[in-house]
Amino acid sequence: MINLKGQLAIVTGGAKGIGEGICDIFCKAGAIVALWDVSDSGLATAERISKGSSSIFYQKVDVTSKENVQKAVNEIMDKYGKIDILINNAGIIRDRSFMKMEPSEWDAVINVNLNSLYTTTKAVLPHMKGAGYGRIISASSINGFSGAFGQVNYAATKAAVAGFTRALCKETGRFGVTVNAVAPGFIKSDMTDSMPEEVIKDGIAQIPVGRIGTTEDMAFVYLFLASKEAGFISGITLHANGGAMPM
Ligand SMILES: NC(=O)c1ccc[n+]([C@@H]2O[C@H](COP(=O)([O-])OP(=O)(O)OC[C@H]3O[C@@H](n4cnc5c(N)ncnc54)[C@H](O)[C@@H]3O)[C@@H](O)[C@H]2O)c1
Repeated sequence: MINLKGQLAIVTGGAKGIGEGICDIFCKAGAIVALWDVSDSGLATAERISKGSSSIFYQKVDVTSKENVQKAVNEIMDKYGKIDILINNAGIIRDRSFMKMEPSEWDAVINVNLNSLYTTTKAVLPHMKGAGYGRIISASSINGFSGAFGQVNYAATKAAVAGFTRALCKETGRFGVTVNAVAPGFIKSDMTDSMPEEVIKDGIAQIPVGRIGTTEDMAFVYLFLASKEAGFISGITLHANGGAMPM
């Protein structure tokens, strides 16, 4: 039922994992997708997805670079004249116990997971305001709420995403732009595949629905919040974690 026919969506970190799932389902729903990623593998991902559906194109964008972001937004505006949806999905981890955490590990995570939201949203929001419509959805995480050993940097950014969302929605609602976040639980991706088997087993044991989440599970949550029909939802962080942490 939900369709994004003709809408222009930017998905950051779209080359793999949850971002790839979002690109896939948005294309199937009829959107034109700008897949942003710092990795060139985004090109192959866009080619794979475009075989089965309409329009997706790769733009090499490092979301920590104001120049990269502005250039990509300008290209989209020149060609399509609008941006309906911004998905701030790109994220990294640099796990280490706090006492040993290097400044570079702190800075990298803050820059990619949090500062990038300022950069991307600042570049896109004026166009949404001009059009009187927009959907901005950013990636939080269960660990921003539960905390996690070795993830002080990561958890700080993911909690901040929820605050960013709650505050920005107060400023944008009057011009038709909703702002929400998604807090995934334990999801199968490269991020989780790199964990020891025991950690994965223990993680699944904490999930009432009895399985790890999939990128498709998450993509559908993003699709729902990105739809026109979700227009009365703004400022929330939607927790999708199989019941691991009911919020
Ligand atoms: N996988 C999980 O279990 C899980 C749980 C909670 C939250 N999340 C969040 O969901 C989002 C996606 O997670 P994932 O597991 O799919 O990650 P992933 O590592 O599989 O993919 C992340 C993508 O972001 C891209 N990226 C990294 N830095 C970038 C930058 N500077 N500019 C542009 N692109 C960049 C990477 O190249 C990669 O393609 C992240 O924000 C993550 O923190 C994931």
